[in-house]
Amino acid sequence: MPDMDNFKEAEAFGIDTPQKTIGFPLKGCSNLDWGMKNRLARIFSPKDGRSLMLACDHGFIMGPTGGVERIDLSIVPLLKYADCLMCTRGVLRAVIPPTQDIPVCLRSDAGTSVTTELNDNVVIDVQDAIRVNAAAMAVMVAVGDAATEAKTVANLYHAVDVGQRYGIPVMGVTAVGKQMTRDARYFRLATRICAENGANIVKTYYTEGFETVVAACPVPIVIAGGKKVPERDALELAYRAISEGAAGVDMGRNVFQSTNPAAMIRAVGAVIHRGFKPDEAYQMFQDLSASK
Ligand code: R5P
Repeated sequence: MPDMDNFKEAEAFGIDTPQKTIGFPLKGCSNLDWGMKNRLARIFSPKDGRSLMLACDHGFIMGPTGGVERIDLSIVPLLKYADCLMCTRGVLRAVIPPTQDIPVCLRSDAGTSVTTELNDNVVIDVQDAIRVNAAAMAVMVAVGDAATEAKTVANLYHAVDVGQRYGIPVMGVTAVGKQMTRDARYFRLATRICAENGANIVKTYYTEGFETVVAACPVPIVIAGGKKVPERDALELAYRAISEGAAGVDMGRNVFQSTNPAAMIRAVGAVIHRGFKPDEAYQMFQDLSASK
C-alpha cells in the first residue's frame, strides 16, 4: 500500500475531456474480447451506449417486499420496456420465461440476510451463470466496511477471473453501509476500487459531484434508483445521472413501486434513450397513466 501521508487530493478529473473509446461505444471496453463485447452490446444499446436495466434482486435480502411479492405479475410485464433484467438465478429459473428476449445481469453473489446488505456473500459457480446464458454477473462490493470489504473484493476479483475466462462481463455493485458517507469522495473510491479489480461495469449511486465519480472511473457506471421517491424526482435523478455521464440506470423500486410501473419504466427509458428532460418525461408518465 502506498504511503497515504501527503497524498494530493484528487482534482484533475478532466471533466471536459471524456475518456476516448475506440470502435466500441462503452468506455474502457475497447480492448475486450469479442464475446465480452457482444454481451455488453446486448445490455447497452450500440446506438447510444446506454442501458435501462430493471433490478428485481431485492428479495434475496429483503424477502417479498413491496413490488416484488409476485415477480410474474409485477416484473414480467415490464420486461418488454427494459434493456436488461437484473435478478437472481432462483427468480430467473422459477419465473422469467426463457422465451423472453432480454439479456440478464445475474446477481451472482449469494448470502444471508442477517446483516442487511453487507453480509457474508460468496460467488455462485460461473458454470451456472453460463447455463442460464447470463449476459453479465453482478457482485456486491462493500468498500470501507471493515468486516466485509476484503471478502467482497475477493468475490469481485474471483468473478472477474472466471468472467474473463468465459467472456462474461462483471458488474461491481457498490454497497453503502449506514456508517459510510454517501458523497462523491466515497463513491469515487468505491467505484474506482471496483474498476481497478477488473469490473467491466460499476453500479453505484448518484450524488452531488457525480461527474467526478464518472470521470475517475475508467469503465461505464450505472446508477441504482434507491428508495422510492415521487416519480418526478426519480426522473430527475435519472436525467442528472445521464447528463453527468452515467451509461444508464439499474432501477428497481422507483419503477416497480410506482403508481404505474409500466408508464414509469417507459418514461425512464425516454430519459435514457430519447433525451427527454425531467418535465417532458414526467408529462409522458402522466399521459400514459391517464390513458391506461
Ligand atoms: C443492489 O444491490 C440492490 O439489490 C438493487 O439491485 C439496487 O439497489 C437497485 O434497486 P433500487 O433502484 O431499488 O435501489
